[in-house]
Amino acid sequence: MAQTRRQFLQQVGIAGGAGVLYSTMGALGLGAAAETPAFAAPTRNDLNGRSKKHVVILGAGIAGLTSAYELGKAGYKVTLLEARQRPGGRNWTVRGGTQETDLKGTTQRAKFSPGQYMNAGPGRIPQHHLTLDYCRELGVAIEPFVNQNADAYLYREGTTSLSNKAIRHRTAKADVYGYVSELLAKATDQGALDSNLTAADKDAVIGFLRSFGAIGTKTNGFAYTGTDGRRGYEVEPGAGLEGGTTASPYALSDVFASGVGNYFSFEFGWDQAMMMFQPVGGMDRIPYAFEKAIGREKFVYGAKVLGLRNTSDGVEVVYSTGSQPRELKADYAICALPPHIAATVPSNLPTDIIAALQYARPTNAGKLGIEYSRRWWELDHRIYGGITNSNLDLVNTWYPSTGFHGDRGTVIGYYNTGANATAYGALSPAARFERAVAQGTKIHGDVYSKDINASFSVDWANTEYSRGSWVGWPSQIDGIYAKLLDATGNIYFAGDHLSHTIAWQHGAIVSARATVTSLHSRVMTR
Ligand code: ALA
Repeated sequence: MAQTRRQFLQQVGIAGGAGVLYSTMGALGLGAAAETPAFAAPTRNDLNGRSKKHVVILGAGIAGLTSAYELGKAGYKVTLLEARQRPGGRNWTVRGGTQETDLKGTTQRAKFSPGQYMNAGPGRIPQHHLTLDYCRELGVAIEPFVNQNADAYLYREGTTSLSNKAIRHRTAKADVYGYVSELLAKATDQGALDSNLTAADKDAVIGFLRSFGAIGTKTNGFAYTGTDGRRGYEVEPGAGLEGGTTASPYALSDVFASGVGNYFSFEFGWDQAMMMFQPVGGMDRIPYAFEKAIGREKFVYGAKVLGLRNTSDGVEVVYSTGSQPRELKADYAICALPPHIAATVPSNLPTDIIAALQYARPTNAGKLGIEYSRRWWELDHRIYGGITNSNLDLVNTWYPSTGFHGDRGTVIGYYNTGANATAYGALSPAARFERAVAQGTKIHGDVYSKDINASFSVDWANTEYSRGSWVGWPSQIDGIYAKLLDATGNIYFAGDHLSHTIAWQHGAIVSARATVTSLHSRVMTR
């Protein structure tokens, strides 16, 4: 029998008193406190003496794995049904031997050398994400992921005098910060901001701008001259009398016309600011560590879900691993499939819940990994990790954050989203590679097409069991999305799509924890 949110809250209130009711409301995102309460993992002590509930989890992506792990620790019986032959979902590391057939029937087999890999899905983890807590708890070693590098490039194709050439981040930054500082210092000094600033404020603002933009004093008109070395040197400082020679800054109007400064805000992002991390050896170290901790015997791989039903006292799931369909009965289900895929599973879910699942809008992302047998980006460009951003359809090129000074390395030739991802996805893997190398050569020169050992590309929209990179919602506050945050009968939902950190493993984790909390609170009041 489907239990309404009101019934559930009444039950919790009756069994546990107002304190429990209040904290449960917090866990459900109700009540006065808008903040997510700290997660209190269910424990074996909680369940002491209660009959062991069986939870079937659909999908062994990060949300399914987190749910299974936390419930399993508390003594629940869990079964994970996963259509793929591996855990992780979109957390997918492609290595030599990885084979994948896309929805168009094209098969790629990766020929990367031993030790080389590409993270086809998530590739970076910010410091504040719970993903790192699970890495610590599960013993997954991490290393820095270089998300920003002063010596990586910005490249803008176009018709300005700075177009069509690779400009180092540091150079672009020095010129943009320098000119903005010069202009603002002049405006401040000339009184243009007198209605906003006191005399003391003006001194303080100018003091900041002199340091921020490396500009001159009032005597020389606060001029930005680019002579302090921030933007780089034509002749580097050296021994003895060699003090270095700086090049003149680019002209102010050229700098702004080119748009080279329009990408800096990326590195300020809540989720994109350094430090960032990656697991040593590939992002899939995380799902495999979860699998080990949960117990391999709890997983059914190759299990396609054919049906999902609420019954009066539990759930029934029909699935197939290739032969006869099998039926599995459990007390509860957590559906951790992408919403647009969950919507296609035959079920007795009410139409408004199916409509809520269909309300999610899948989007696309693509990545291409290229293994080189020479680390030319280190040897020829002195770039050690980081990202080159361009307005080419490649959008982002990632230099590896691991294996420095090794004899080979795997560059992410493109990581793009939306229309660019779909345009590459429409091509054959060979044509994607060819196009990306031609584009990458514009930025890096001929070296980009040499010493290539292997490549592999992913087009998430055409990847079975994902059918998209992540989803967006037309709204997360109009009540439709919110229907998926409560159980429908004995069926719960989890996934990054049910968070405000969509497209991150952290989103899947916080959603899974909220679902586990909700399910466990219910079990505790029975
Ligand atoms: N989390 C994804 C990224 O970092 C979207 O690019």
